[in-house]
Formats: sequence, C-alpha cells, structure tokens
Amino acid sequence: MKSFITISNAIFAVFIFCLVAWCCGHENIDAAPMEKTEKEALYSAVQGFVGNWWNGSALYPDPCGWTPIQGVSCDLLDGLWYVTTLNIGPIHDNSLVCAKNLEFRPQVFELKHLKTLSFFKCFVSPKRHPIAIPSNSWDKLGGSLESLEFRSNPGLIGKIPISFGALVKLKSLVLLENGLTGNIPTNIGNLINLKRLVLAGNRFVGWIPDSFGGLNELLIYDLSRNTLSGPLPLTLGGLTSLLKLDLSNNQLEGMLPSEISNLKNLTLLDLRNNKISGGLTKSFQGMSSLEELVLSNNPIGGDLMSLEWHNLHNLVILDLSNIGLTGEIPESISKLERLRFLGLSDNNLTGKLSPKLATLPCVSALYLNANNLTGELTFADDFYRKVGRRFGAWNNPNLCYPVGLVSASHVPYGVKPCQQQPTGHIA
Ligand SMILES: *[C@@H]1O[C@H](CO)[C@@H](O)[C@H](O)[C@H]1NC(C)=O
Ligand SMILES: *[C@@H]1O[C@H](CO)[C@@H](O)[C@H](O)[C@H]1NC(C)=O
Ligand SMILES: *[C@@H]1O[C@H](CO)[C@@H](O)[C@H](O)[C@H]1NC(C)=O
Ligand SMILES: *[C@@H]1O[C@H](CO)[C@@H](O)[C@H](O)[C@H]1NC(C)=O
Repeated sequence: MKSFITISNAIFAVFIFCLVAWCCGHENIDAAPMEKTEKEALYSAVQGFVGNWWNGSALYPDPCGWTPIQGVSCDLLDGLWYVTTLNIGPIHDNSLVCAKNLEFRPQVFELKHLKTLSFFKCFVSPKRHPIAIPSNSWDKLGGSLESLEFRSNPGLIGKIPISFGALVKLKSLVLLENGLTGNIPTNIGNLINLKRLVLAGNRFVGWIPDSFGGLNELLIYDLSRNTLSGPLPLTLGGLTSLLKLDLSNNQLEGMLPSEISNLKNLTLLDLRNNKISGGLTKSFQGMSSLEELVLSNNPIGGDLMSLEWHNLHNLVILDLSNIGLTGEIPESISKLERLRFLGLSDNNLTGKLSPKLATLPCVSALYLNANNLTGELTFADDFYRKVGRRFGAWNNPNLCYPVGLVSASHVPYGVKPCQQQPTGHIA
C-alpha cells in the first residue's frame, strides 16, 4: 500500500513537471515578437508619466504578451505586436498612476499604431507642476490615433496645440475639465471624422470657429463651461447628425440661428447661462427629437404663445426660467405627455393658469414662481401630492389659491388664499 502511494506520487510529480514544461514552452511559442524600438518607446513613455522607479523591462518583459500592463493593449500587425491603447490614470486598482513630477516624453509619438490615448487625473497640480500638451509631433500619430482624451487634469495648462489639426483619423476628442486656455484652433474643424467633440470645463476664450460646421459626422458636441463669446455660428445648422449640443455656461450672445432647425435628430440642446437674445425662434418647432431643451438664464425674451409646443412631443425637460418671457402660458404645453420638468420661473409671464397644466401625466417638477400670473390656482389636491415641494408659484403677487379646494397640508408655498367674495363669485 505504502509503495503504491509513493509510485502514484512520483507519477503525479512527473505529470506536474510535464505540465509546467509544456505550459512554459507554450508561452514561449505564443509570445509574438515586438520590435525593440516599439517596446522601448512604450517603457520610456510610461516611465515619463509614472516616474523613474517604474522599470518596465524588469516588471513587464513581455508587455503585449504574458506580462500585460494595465491600461495598455496591443494588436498584431504582420506578426508583430504594436501598442494600440495607452490609458494612464486611476481607473482600476492596478492602473498606471501618474507621478507628481511627471513628464510628457517624445517616445509617446513613436508608438506608430496608437489608436487610443487617454489621461485621467494625471496632471493634477496646477501650481506646483503645471504641464502643457506638447505642441509638436502630433502629426506622427495622424495616421492612427482615433481617440484622444484628457479628463480631469487641472494641472494641464496652456493652449490646444495647432498640430492637433493633423489628427485626421480622430473620432473622439475629449478635453474635459482641465486647465486649458486660449482660443480653440480653427483647424479642429478639419477633423471631419469626429463623432464626439468635448472641450467642456476649461478656460477657452474667443469665438466658436465657423469651421466646426464641417464636422458633419458629429453626434456629441460639448463646449460648455468655458468663457467662449461671440455669436452662435450659423454653420451649426450643418451638423445634421448631432444628438447632443451643449454650449451652456459661456458668454455667447446674439440670436438663436434659425438654421438650428436642421438638427432633426438633436435630443439635447443646452444653452443655459449665456447672453443669447432675440426671442424664441420658431425653428424649435421642427426639432421633434428634442428631449431636453434648456435655455435658462439668457436675455432671450419673446412669447411662449408663438410656438406650437405640442410638436415637441418628446420633451422631458423644458427649462425656460429667467429668459425674459412675456405673455401667457399656452395650453399646448399641457400636451407634452413625457414632460417631467417644466421651469418657467423668473419671467414676466402674465394671465391665468390653465388647470390643464396639472394634467401633464409625467410632470414631477413645475416652477412658475417669480412671474406676474393672476387669478386662481385651480390645481387639485392630488397634483400637489404628486409634485410636493417641486411646485413653485410664489412671487406672483396677483395669484391666489381657492380655500377649500386643497387640504391644509398641500397649500402651495408662498401663494395667498383667495379673498372670499360675499356674493360667492370667484375673486
Ligand atoms: C531595469 O531592469 C533591468 C532588468 O532587470 C535591469 O537590467 C536594468 O538595469 C534596470 N534599470 C534600471 C534603471 O533600474
Ligand atoms: C437621424 O436618425 C435616424 C434614425 O436613427 C437616422 O436613420 C438618420 O440617418 C439620422 N439623420 C442624420 C442626418 O444623421
Ligand atoms: C418684468 O417686466 C418689468 C417691467 O417691464 C421689468 O422691470 C422686469 O425686469 C421684468 N422682469 C423680468 C424677470 O424679466
Ligand atoms: C402685473 O400685471 C398687472 C396686471 O395684470 C399689472 O398691473 C402690473 O403692473 C404687473 N406687474 C409687473 C411687475 O409687471
């Protein structure tokens, strides 16, 4: 019995030995070669970002094969490995994380098949270690780069390099929440394959280049939270594929161009917090895909009555607060069956409120405060129960609610009770 166990142990040991030998041999066969220059460019580029302690050749001798680096991926091309993705920043537990005194080494541009390059929370100290995007060499990636992203890098300062205009294969350019400044280069408009252009949350100044009107593959266009000025370019109407247009929180002025009606597939239009004037354009009427229309805090002016609101039957969010509206609230707004948020506060709206507004089936927030609405607020108790505190009607000095129609717990905040007439007629 004892000898049997010994023999079976021996057989087992031989089996394990063979398995290990086979595995290791297999790995060696499987490991496709990588050009020395490509491998060294990768090590050096990464080391520049993560610090000199990082010894790539010791830690990751086969970076595209059996010792992969988190955030790096490769593709085989003619039997050789090439780096196609380089993601730097704390996305996963073992991601490549940037050092404090990092540097952008020129070896990044030697990765000649790089398709995706992204930096997240990498350049983080604008005071002690600000870094600019290298101004040259981007043309070297022009034949391959499809996605370039700098996200949440407050220490990334300076301008967008003109040489970004050479990245003609780019489908996505995201420069979100960095410390970038200056004008947006006109030649970004040459990147005609762009589907996503996000330059939000920087300190860009100047006008939106007219050349952007040629980006007719664009789906997402977000220049919000900068200090852009000047008019909305008329060429905006050329971006017929657009799904989302966000130019909010800038200093844009002038009129809403009627060309905007060409954007038939647009689901989001956010222009809040600008200086846009000239009235509500009838062009909105044709934009029946719109789900979110946010124009608040602009001196737009005009009259809600001038639009056929029921055409915008996909609207979920309609925020027209503080845009200088006059006139009455049209009943056609109560036909917006998907509407959840209606903001009309801080305008000069007048007239009586149609009780139909309370029949909007999905509405969960309705703000009418700070207008000059008059008469009785004849919404029923169950409307107030549904909307709760998200109903605003205060600061309408000539508006009142009829005592008896609503229970004491649902009295609309800041609205006074109607005076009872001795005759029993409506006040
Ligand atoms: C990195 O590691 C390799 C292999 O272990 C070694 O030869 C080389 O000297 C190291 N380089 C540095 C800078 O420590
Ligand atoms: C708008 O969307 C529809 C449906 O998704 C699509 O077929 C059409 O091509 C789009 N129009 C443009 C101009 O992209
Ligand atoms: C409403 O109109 C009055 C008088 O025309 C004007 O003084 C006031 O600024 C306007 N309010 C708003 C919020 O537009
Ligand atoms: C509000 O409307 C009333 C008439 O309905 C008008 O007399 C009053 O001046 C208006 N108030 C403001 C601030 O526009």
